[in-house]
Amino acid sequence: MKHLLEEFNITKQRLKQLLLRNKLVASTITLLTLLLVALYWSGVFDAPDPQGQVGAGWIKPVGSEVAYVGNATCQPCHPHEFQLYNASPHSRTVQMIPVGQERPEFVAAQTVRDDRNGILYSVRKGAGQNQIVATTGATSETDTARWIFGSGNHAWTYLSQHGPQFRQLKITYYPPSRTWNFTPGSGPGEGTAEALGDAYTPVQAAACFGCHSTVLTGTRKSLDLEHSRLNVGCESCHGPGRSHVESVQGGATANGTTANGSQAAEAALVTPPLHNGPQIMQLCGLCHRMPVASGHENALGETLLARFPGVALVRSRCFTASAGKLSCITCHNPHESTKEQQLSSFEAKCLSCHTAPHGKPCARGETTNCITCHMPEEAIARKIPLRFHNHWIRKNPFGMSQNPADIPHNS
Ligand code: HEC
Ligand code: HEC
Ligand code: HEC
Ligand code: HEC
Ligand code: HEC
Ligand code: HEC
Ligand code: HEC
Repeated sequence: MKHLLEEFNITKQRLKQLLLRNKLVASTITLLTLLLVALYWSGVFDAPDPQGQVGAGWIKPVGSEVAYVGNATCQPCHPHEFQLYNASPHSRTVQMIPVGQERPEFVAAQTVRDDRNGILYSVRKGAGQNQIVATTGATSETDTARWIFGSGNHAWTYLSQHGPQFRQLKITYYPPSRTWNFTPGSGPGEGTAEALGDAYTPVQAAACFGCHSTVLTGTRKSLDLEHSRLNVGCESCHGPGRSHVESVQGGATANGTTANGSQAAEAALVTPPLHNGPQIMQLCGLCHRMPVASGHENALGETLLARFPGVALVRSRCFTASAGKLSCITCHNPHESTKEQQLSSFEAKCLSCHTAPHGKPCARGETTNCITCHMPEEAIARKIPLRFHNHWIRKNPFGMSQNPADIPHNS
């Protein structure tokens, strides 16, 4: 030791300083580590719990619903929008199962197996009830579906309700493939350990109901689903409509003028018509997710990205290089279901920007099938039959080979 010190010409004094500094460094490191551990356990680094945190924000005080008039009120004056909207999944994305109604998909023929935990899931109906059964060895637990989420274009996920408490049932029905399978995010080893599915407090359930509805009323202790306006209605996007409707109706009679009726009507819209890209992106992103909504979504894996068009689209060159011109409504009529549209109808949208000589056309010289190659449909989880179009428009989404046989098929 001494020899070494001499060799490096370090005095005792210097050594002391060094040791002291190392001690300081060491204790700082220890402190930092402890702090990090504490922070970790406090949950600061957790991805925001989508149900727990967001839920409360959706709950509006009882009575807030009076500012809303409902879709049917808009129909006589805006029949075209109403007709399209009424056939779209926004209009039927959450429903209560009427008391006594037995659902056709609850046929006992299918089972879902959780081999990891040795649980067998089955469904049954009878006596006006629709139930899932979780069987572990000789014991069975059952719960009753009360609420259905999803229009059925992709999936039906069920919630049970026990007083103010809810449970998201462990298995989901996938109408396109007519199969039962695990609820997304709730497969073996995911969610809580409860066999029947995750139990939700009213605040947790409020995230589901809120994001699938126009206005959700109640308190943190109890949701008032009876007075809430369920489903994504006209007023989810255009704001509460009462003042608008009253101003149109009053405009003609009260001041006897219809000349400025149009202006007054627009002025009275709580959410004025949005015509710029970034505003539209914020509106749709409120539910279809935007990266700004929470850091959590920025870290989404490639597979989940397809489920969140807002997060995916903003990564595309089409978005970043078009100065706010590209938004959801460049391609989607917000009132219309995509199901009614042929995939090829979207190509005109691509070509509106990607036409020579001003815009770059496809480097492969393709003139059709843009979506199949650049926005392919993907599964979001292994085994679960849930597929979405990836909105991250890229040259080569999957390192796609140039062999046409490898190109994904149209849905
Ligand atoms: C009594 C007839 C009436 C009812 C009911 C009505 N509106 Fe209107 N609405 C109008 C009129 C008139 C205008 C202004 C003229 C126009 O732009 O068509 C208008 C304009 C609008 C606009 C702006 C259109 C634009 O291009 O700027 C939106 C959006 C709108 N209404 C949504 C709704 C919604 C949502 C409802 C139901 C909550 C509703 N309206 C109910 C008559 C009505
Ligand atoms: C209040 C939340 C909310 C808002 C705001 C919202 N959406 Fe949706 N959207 C949903 C939900 C929930 C569904 C799922 C419907 C279902 O159950 O299939 C959906 C489904 C869709 C679909 C799928 C339709 C289909 O045919 O499968 C499209 C496209 C869509 N939304 C576009 C938009 C656009 C564009 C905007 C903005 C103008 C928007 N949404 C705003 C909640 C919302
Ligand atoms: C931040 C808003 C938001 C929250 C919170 C939310 N959803 Fe959704 N949900 C959506 C949107 C948007 C879609 C449409 C997704 C699509 O079709 O691309 C959707 C679609 C669905 C579907 C149809 C299948 C699918 O994936 O398209 C089901 C079922 C569903 N949600 C159930 C639930 C349940 C149950 C909860 C609560 C645990 C919940 N959602 C919470 C926004 C939300
Ligand atoms: C998912 C969101 C969403 C829903 C639900 C929705 N709208 Fe719209 N609506 C929009 C957006 C965004 C625009 C602006 C479109 C544009 O600028 O091209 C719009 C435009 C309109 C316009 C103006 C049309 C025009 O040509 O200028 C009317 C009127 C309207 N909506 C009425 C309704 C009615 C009535 C309903 C329900 C039956 C409804 N909307 C449901 C998002 C929505
Ligand atoms: C609002 C105009 C607009 C629309 C609509 C549009 N794009 Fe683009 N896109 C752009 C711009 C701008 C770029 C960047 C061009 C450049 O880098 O020179 C781009 C880039 C691309 C690229 C190259 C991406 C990369 O990572 O280099 C592809 C592939 C592409 N677009 C495909 C499509 C397809 C397919 C559609 C239809 C689904 C579409 N675009 C719709 C504007 C648009
Ligand atoms: C460049 C065009 C384009 C833009 C921009 C775009 N979409 Fe899409 N979107 C599509 C195409 C194409 C499909 C597939 C339609 C089909 O299957 O018929 C689709 C499908 C969807 C679906 C149905 C589920 C799925 O993924 O198959 C939803 C929900 C959706 N888009 C929401 C949005 C939202 C929200 C935005 C804005 C953040 C947006 N889209 C922007 C082209 C676009
Ligand atoms: C068979 C699959 C396929 C189809 C169909 C296809 N593309 Fe492409 N596209 C590609 C591939 C692969 C590349 C990347 C080529 C490269 O980098 O050499 C590409 C590149 C591009 C680019 C980037 C151009 C550049 O010079 O950077 C644009 C823009 C584009 N495609 C638009 C489109 C549009 C618009 C359509 C529909 C009219 C379309 N593509 C149809 C596979 C396809």
